[in-house]
Amino acid sequence: MIIPANLRSQFPGLTNRPEAVFFDGPAGTQTPQRVIDAVVSYFTNTNANHGGVFATSVESDRILDGAHQAMADLLNAPSPHEIVFGNNMTSLAFQMSRSLARVLKPGDEIIVSRLDHDANVSPWTLAARDAGATVRWIDIHREDCTLDLDSFRKQLSSKTKWVAVGLASNGVGTMNDAATITLEAKRVGATVFLDAVHYAPHGPVDVQALGCDFLACSAYKFFGPHVGVLWGRRELLASLPCYKVRPSSNDLPGKWMTGTQNHEGIAGVAAAVEYLAALADGQADRRARLRQAMTSIQSYEQTLSKHLLTGLASRPRFRVWGVRDLNRLCQRVPTISITCKDVSPAHLSAYLASKQIYSWAGNMYAVEVSEQLGLEATGGFVRLGMVHYNTIAEIDRLLKALDDLG
Ligand SMILES: Cc1ncc(COP(=O)(O)O)c(C=O)c1O
Repeated sequence: MIIPANLRSQFPGLTNRPEAVFFDGPAGTQTPQRVIDAVVSYFTNTNANHGGVFATSVESDRILDGAHQAMADLLNAPSPHEIVFGNNMTSLAFQMSRSLARVLKPGDEIIVSRLDHDANVSPWTLAARDAGATVRWIDIHREDCTLDLDSFRKQLSSKTKWVAVGLASNGVGTMNDAATITLEAKRVGATVFLDAVHYAPHGPVDVQALGCDFLACSAYKFFGPHVGVLWGRRELLASLPCYKVRPSSNDLPGKWMTGTQNHEGIAGVAAAVEYLAALADGQADRRARLRQAMTSIQSYEQTLSKHLLTGLASRPRFRVWGVRDLNRLCQRVPTISITCKDVSPAHLSAYLASKQIYSWAGNMYAVEVSEQLGLEATGGFVRLGMVHYNTIAEIDRLLKALDDLG
């Protein structure tokens, strides 16, 4: 069971600012002490480049290998060799998009969604442009910001080669039925790329159950350092053409990990996975503990969503964008975006900051959804992004601040 009072003490970022309410998690979460320790220990004890025969390099490679296995456990990947680390999700997607541009042909089609962060849109639309392929879009239902699966089905055909969707929207919190989208895309032979960046801190991920071909996430969104992570199906990682320097490895995952990596950050990624696994009780293997911990996080976070949505429902000055129905909490993560009738998002976010409540205003790079909702011209929305270290008391502080807004 998730009890924030017990785990908040593990986060120096939280304890150093007891006055602050961190509702900025979707832009990057705070890190527990064990992640900080792992980064410091890397520099202190094992700082070396990859592939040497001397002690620090051997030890460094052992830590990096451990991080590949840790991420394989978090995502339920069949093999640690299918885990690729990189700068961030955006860079990994652009790297993959160079390969896509080489295999797409004129007449081929790709499908992207109007709900996604632009990092899961532009890499693919630019690849399609370069290859002379056609881009098709999955629309959204504006009333609840869910994906319009009928529009997806209408776009799907034997010409579809690539489908890119997110597991959850970083703009409005909607969780997508990625397993169904994947199943239908695979029926026409398309390759499926899932963006789990926003979803990853909020629930269990299982690439085998999802049936996708690629899934990307970013450790700084799930309590780790600024490192991007890509899982890819072994056959595809092996067969797709890759832009790389000639002397570097052609094996997996080295083929896709261009240049020298952020070793200290990757050491921290393994510690972030350990932090999550340690939230579960019992002695089961790490994958089982991760599943249990992420399921507990999910149910705790639903109590946060419920409390905030209930509070906002009785304050008509504010409008919630996305799923509001308390019976559909399993269709959203606790990322709740609002606008105010008479105060701009930028002003509202600045006002909250003056009350030590941290939020973001704008479109959060979820450009299409902000446009679809007609919010682009008025500054987007204010995103109140909660994670498992947030509390009901913090939501009550936010609601009081909203009541005091002049
Ligand atoms: C849903 C989603 N996808 C992709 C990204 C880009 O991730 P990164 O910052 O690792 O490039 C973000 C970042 O906010 C995001 O929220």
